[in-house]
Amino acid sequence: MTATAPEIHRGLAGVVVDTTEISTVIQETNSLTYRGYPVQDLAARRSFEEVAHLLWYGELPDEGQLRAFRARERALRPLDRTTWELLARLPETCHPMDVLRTAVSFFGAEDPTEDDGSLAAHRAKSLTLLAKLPTVVAADQRRRRGLDPIPPDPGLGYAENFFHMCFGSVPAPEVVRCFEISLTLYAEHSFNASTFTARVVTSTLSDLYSAVTAAIGALKGPLHGGANEAVMHMLLEIGDPQRAQAWLDEALASKRKIMGFGHRVYKHGDSRVPIMQDALDRLVARAADPEVTRLATLHAALRDAVLHRKGIHPNLDYPAGLAYHLMGFDIPAFTPIFVLSRITGWTAHITEQLAHNALIRPLASYGGPGQRAVPGAA
Ligand code: ACO
Repeated sequence: MTATAPEIHRGLAGVVVDTTEISTVIQETNSLTYRGYPVQDLAARRSFEEVAHLLWYGELPDEGQLRAFRARERALRPLDRTTWELLARLPETCHPMDVLRTAVSFFGAEDPTEDDGSLAAHRAKSLTLLAKLPTVVAADQRRRRGLDPIPPDPGLGYAENFFHMCFGSVPAPEVVRCFEISLTLYAEHSFNASTFTARVVTSTLSDLYSAVTAAIGALKGPLHGGANEAVMHMLLEIGDPQRAQAWLDEALASKRKIMGFGHRVYKHGDSRVPIMQDALDRLVARAADPEVTRLATLHAALRDAVLHRKGIHPNLDYPAGLAYHLMGFDIPAFTPIFVLSRITGWTAHITEQLAHNALIRPLASYGGPGQRAVPGAA
């Protein structure tokens, strides 16, 4: 009797590995919900801090809860002296995602609290990372520009404070709002590659910092979070809107992936794109600058050309990449900014994984040589 060949799901495509109560993509309506709320409505009506609370606690905060949440987050923003020393020692040639990964690993090594695995301990660590990571990213961007870090301002909200620490000033409310919308849209997306990585690490009963460190590594890749940086490099490489079609023809002929397009889950368009594109359009209109208009025209021309030639829709990284450029962030800071947001989703999943843990350990179909003798063995 011959054994039936196992069914193989490369890339785990289409495999449902567990349940989650955090978010879902509703295929029929092509919409993404966080704890049941459509992400578009959250982005339009709620602050990022409220969204973080929703992801962690399951409900939007009332006024008192929000006040307490904000106070705790603001108090945790400063870094200690040893972290500053560590950051200063990292080579400027390393990618800012490496800096962030190292910082999280260091926070884990420094954390004196015994990980008792309690929900309270996990929430405290999650909030610490949410509060401190912007300080790391902003200081690193300034260091690369040859500038001293700017300490966090506890009088400012999460998004405003990040601008303040990066640039020493807070831009117009519309720009901050656009940034906050991107944070909300990036916050959570079910079992994506980096979240799944965090869940795999957690499933071994390892600690939260290890899971987040691993997730940062997974997000860095250009097929995942690294795509928002790759989008901007691609737009700068094309340069001229008139070149979009010819560039695309060449790229497709050489089997290049077009960054910021396609998605494993969304096949008819990423539900987060329209609201991010609207926010980007507002930034472009506000800039009233021919260089910005040229980039926006190129962005639209490439989107239309890819859709027409390949039927592939843009994902969130496509509008977010250009938006971050227009906000003044350096390209290598784009994926770290994604981390500042996705830290909420990752840590919500880490907590959920622990609540009903099962070790994640799939099987593989072996295709190597059959058993053979080691030369020289009797
Ligand atoms: N450019 C060119 N062709 C593409 C692209 C793209 N961006 N995306 C998909 N395709 C093509 C593939 O070549 C493939 O064609 P084929 O069947 O002729 O070989 C077909 O569409 C299916 O694509 P897969 O790669 O099998 O789809 P998968 O679900 O595995 O990949 C992924 C999804 C990795 C996101 C892919 O679309 C891609 O590489 N996109 C570019 C990188 C990117 O933007 N990543 C960000 C993802 S969203 C996020 O992390 C927030």
